[in-house]
Amino acid sequence: MKNIHVIEHPLIEHKLTIIRDKETGTKDFREIVNEIARLLAYEVSRDLPLEDVVIETPLVKSTEKKLAGKKVVVVPILRAGLGMVDGILDLIPAARVGHVGLYRDEKTMKPVEYFVKMPNNLEDRQLYIVDPMLATGGSAIAAIDSVLERGAKIENIKFISIVAAPEGVEALHDAHPEIEIYTASLDEKLNDDAYIVPGLGDAGDRLYGTL
Ligand code: PRP
Ligand code: URA
Repeated sequence: MKNIHVIEHPLIEHKLTIIRDKETGTKDFREIVNEIARLLAYEVSRDLPLEDVVIETPLVKSTEKKLAGKKVVVVPILRAGLGMVDGILDLIPAARVGHVGLYRDEKTMKPVEYFVKMPNNLEDRQLYIVDPMLATGGSAIAAIDSVLERGAKIENIKFISIVAAPEGVEALHDAHPEIEIYTASLDEKLNDDAYIVPGLGDAGDRLYGTL
């Protein structure tokens, strides 16, 4: 599969095992989702553009690098995507945050949009759409369509998940082949209820204690 980056790192694998474990409670689950998001963001942000800037060190004038262009936008898909935001902002503290509220209708498994609020000038910004779970891909595709409708450029959008199902990756590729997907794990499959297997259960419920 192309355009999918499974970020392999011992710290990520260790942390992922903890959040997959059904015995892990809300507090630890929440902390570790953020820790994994922080580690993923380090990889995802590798290609952020830089520009030259002349500064004076205590010794000499020197040409150095700083991030170029408008601030990055982190776009969590509510609710579960919110669990990744603080981890990413630890690395990119000046990033803006746009929100897309979607839930999966329990009968159709199709996403229903209930809230959208974005920063301005989306057309000039790099967007990281974040959701711990890429299951059928319906929510990811709906969130991407939503930011595209509001001016974001497809080449400036990346999707970051913690666990992805092959079915969701395929669906997202079919809908938007150019979008790069970053994930900590490409799992085995979806079950009949469209849950990821082995997965980690319902990410929103485990983050917010609404089981
Ligand atoms: C979950 C998850 C994703 C979506 C993934 O959200 O957080 O947003 O399902 O599934 P998909 O790839 O099949 O669309 P859910 O609808 O349970 O809402 P919540 O985050 O508010 O709990
Ligand atoms: N949403 C979740 O939270 N978990 C899954 O396994 C699938 C969708």
